[in-house]
Amino acid sequence: MYQEIDLDKIDIHAEPPIEEPARQYYFMAKCRKWVKGFEQKHGRLPKSCVVNMGCQMNARDSEKLTGILRKIGYCQSDSEEADFVIYNTCTVRENANNKVYGRLGYLNGMQKKNPDMLIGLCGCMMQEPSVVEKIKESYSFVNLIFGTHNLFQFAELLFCAMEKHSSAQKKKADMTIEIWEDTDQIVENLPNKRKYFFKSGVNIMFGCNNFCSYCIVPYVRGRERSRRPEEILREIEALAADGVVEVMLLGQNVNSYGKNLETPMTFAQLLREAENIDGIERIRFMTSHPKDLSDELIETMKQSKKICRHLHLPLQSGSSKILKKMNRNYTKEQYLALVEKLRNAIPDIAVTTDIIVGFPGETEEDFEETMDVVRKVQYDSAFTFIYSKRTGTPAASMEDQIPEELVKKRFDRLLKEVQQIASAKAGRYTGSVQKVLIEQVNEQDAHLVTGRMSNNSIVHLPGTKERIGTIADVRLTECRGFYYLGEVVG
Ligand code: 5AD
Ligand code: SF4
Repeated sequence: MYQEIDLDKIDIHAEPPIEEPARQYYFMAKCRKWVKGFEQKHGRLPKSCVVNMGCQMNARDSEKLTGILRKIGYCQSDSEEADFVIYNTCTVRENANNKVYGRLGYLNGMQKKNPDMLIGLCGCMMQEPSVVEKIKESYSFVNLIFGTHNLFQFAELLFCAMEKHSSAQKKKADMTIEIWEDTDQIVENLPNKRKYFFKSGVNIMFGCNNFCSYCIVPYVRGRERSRRPEEILREIEALAADGVVEVMLLGQNVNSYGKNLETPMTFAQLLREAENIDGIERIRFMTSHPKDLSDELIETMKQSKKICRHLHLPLQSGSSKILKKMNRNYTKEQYLALVEKLRNAIPDIAVTTDIIVGFPGETEEDFEETMDVVRKVQYDSAFTFIYSKRTGTPAASMEDQIPEELVKKRFDRLLKEVQQIASAKAGRYTGSVQKVLIEQVNEQDAHLVTGRMSNNSIVHLPGTKERIGTIADVRLTECRGFYYLGEVVG
């Protein structure tokens, strides 16, 4: 998108450069030659399909993979009936892993029908050595595996897989695997292809240092490292110049942004700089850890015309005892006080959360504490999860793992409560006029378009695809459960 290298200017017969990102562009040029060979053989360009299975961080990584695939000549497809399929995996809960194994069987069937099909796996799940062992053993038809730390090497590794595929009958040992345990390297200026032309995620940091005792992320995404503010702001400026009106700043814990920079800066400072960029109308961010949410940030949000009226503030549990065991570094009372401070400063802010049910040692009383916080905070929405035991995390070896049936009952009670509160709150803006960023044509009714308010509420309104990417003043005429109906005013 910006400062990309022209592949035509690269001599693919020379030695590969050592430095990045030049090395990856060299391999992109080599891959492109392979793609041309495919086109000659099949009379068509190859199709690629990047399947995203994780969070916004993963979604952004998928855009980077798609950008490279596009640059080397693949057509993009949403269907796994393609010539290159890559699963960008998540491993935050065990069932995410099981889903991947299930779908790999299906891909194997497709590859048998299309012997020139290449299959890749990447993302968080690949950072787990036991997963990679299992794939080597039982899914040897996979051509390419890499992890989260060396995603920037995608072109180089894909080329390696392409060459192996062209040169030999595929054997077990032919799988291309490169996984790093950790890195402090951040490679800038690689291509990427945004899913939406008018909004984009922007990584501001990678990794996580929090070590919540249930969470596998620090093990699969490594230590926290911040991108330099110049690089971030340059990226946002380029996005704005390219028609983007909304950016979502991404990090596992954005509130601790900047601590490890040569010249440290706070997340609030970064937000203020981003706000000055012309063309950017809305700024979102994800995810905030309650322990690091500063007064400076609340003040910056309050003053801002661009920072959206929404804060995702994961609670995880309402019991101070469980929070301690989770290594969250705040108590129930501190969390409640923080929400109160936030709402006093910004009364119209929407607050959403993540909650885990059934953490080891969670008693009925602990669970009631969670329900109590839910009732007190009145979340606009909440993602609720059943605790999943992740091997290697401290919680996995804690005593008092809770029986499944009990957890399920608590989970159902929590879900019901969360939904009741969210739907009771949902209609509170009916009758008002709100700014809505139109995002897509309505999936059910082609005469409607769908957009989001600053607080992330969804609005359907009459309109056509020409409106996508614009911000309209919309009167909210009716609330239907979790979305509004509206009409453009003026
Ligand atoms: N089990 C269940 N939920 C988890 N999360 C993270 N790790 C686990 C786990 N082991 C949830 C947390 C986090 C969200 C992204 O996923 O609520 O905020
Ligand atoms: Fe899943 Fe965490 Fe990886 Fe996101 S960072 S894809 S939530 S494991």
